[in-house]
Amino acid sequence: MRILLGITGGIAAYKATGLIRAFQDLGHAVEVLPTENALRFVGKTTLEAISGKNIDIDMYSDVAQVRHVEIGQQADLIVIAPATASFLSRLATGLADDLLTNAILASRAPVVVCPAMHTEMWENSATQSNVRVLQDRGIRVMSPAVGRLTGADSGAGRMPEVQDIVRYALMGELNGKTVMVTAGGTREPIDAVRFIGNHSSGRMGIEIAKTLRDAGAQVLLIAANLDATPNGMEVIHVSSVDELEQAMNREVDAVVMAAAVSDYRVEDPFAGKLSRSEGIELKLIPTKDLIAQYSSTHPGVFTIAFALAANIESLEQIAKTKLIDKGVQLVVGNSTKALGSEVTDVILVDSQGSQSAAGSKRAIAELITQRIIDHFRQ
Ligand SMILES: Cc1cc2nc3c(=O)[nH]c(=O)nc-3n(C[C@H](O)[C@H](O)[C@H](O)COP(=O)(O)O)c2cc1C
Repeated sequence: MRILLGITGGIAAYKATGLIRAFQDLGHAVEVLPTENALRFVGKTTLEAISGKNIDIDMYSDVAQVRHVEIGQQADLIVIAPATASFLSRLATGLADDLLTNAILASRAPVVVCPAMHTEMWENSATQSNVRVLQDRGIRVMSPAVGRLTGADSGAGRMPEVQDIVRYALMGELNGKTVMVTAGGTREPIDAVRFIGNHSSGRMGIEIAKTLRDAGAQVLLIAANLDATPNGMEVIHVSSVDELEQAMNREVDAVVMAAAVSDYRVEDPFAGKLSRSEGIELKLIPTKDLIAQYSSTHPGVFTIAFALAANIESLEQIAKTKLIDKGVQLVVGNSTKALGSEVTDVILVDSQGSQSAAGSKRAIAELITQRIIDHFRQ
């Protein structure tokens, strides 16, 4: 792959030399393009010697080649590390005032940005709003690491380790894939103001949506009764099972059904508001099995269902049964203890066998994302 490595003028610019080596060691051709300010932090001689290529950052030299277009069009992947606050702002507004920003605008290659700066600069609302703009445009922004900064202070803003950047940048293996993720819990109306709901926080589905986005997928998040949703993805808000069914009517490459979907709904919801009385009887009827329905009507789509059981011991058997009954490719079994919690114990069951895992919902989301990547690699 041809990687265009943009380096901007932050204190971590010297670390980009390690990045050139690491990409080259993996067999990639690296074109290095520092900004003028980056060259105040790391020498052109060093970058030329390590990359094995001459570096000319003058926008107006060799004009006959129209170099910014040539460089942009030749890149298969663009990585900017470190990315300064100033650079994020320029990229967010499309300001093309040097060779690097022009080459990025002239390219259709996926872009990965690795911001590095002081914590205050990183947390500044101007920087965060630029990050959101970039993510909404499909640019992958790697979160900076927490640790020692330029001076004696430490906090969020440090450039991540070279190997972490390499892994993140090359993880864009889901580029070109569309993945639908459902998250949250459905609500079935009893009357105009009341509903039957559940305790799902939506956290697991949101973490999965974020890791899929970070792996380069185009994510469609169907959010059942969730207020806060992540940037950088299409979001459809729904409430009931019926609305969820309608929203799921989309052609995608993979589906992760992480939403807690009601198994029952009230047969005849009351049109107005019920008032206190002697008591009423509600007739509950089963809802449609949406993931089973989706997998049978979309046989080519990689579908993942979730199974929830109070008893962790019986989870594997329940997950195995669901794998067959629902016709899906993977079932993630988790216990009711996971509801609303930051951590979870899961068992992943597919036709090859079972894998147990425990950890933060982010870590489990990465595991599930890896299964999707593995599927498309085959
Ligand atoms: C010693 C020093 C360290 C700096 N480190 C950073 C940094 O880590 N991140 C950042 O966003 N800006 C940093 N700056 C400010 C940038 O150099 C400045 O915003 C510059 O205009 C960035 O230019 P560029 O984005 O075109 O490369 C630093 C400045 C100095 C003098």
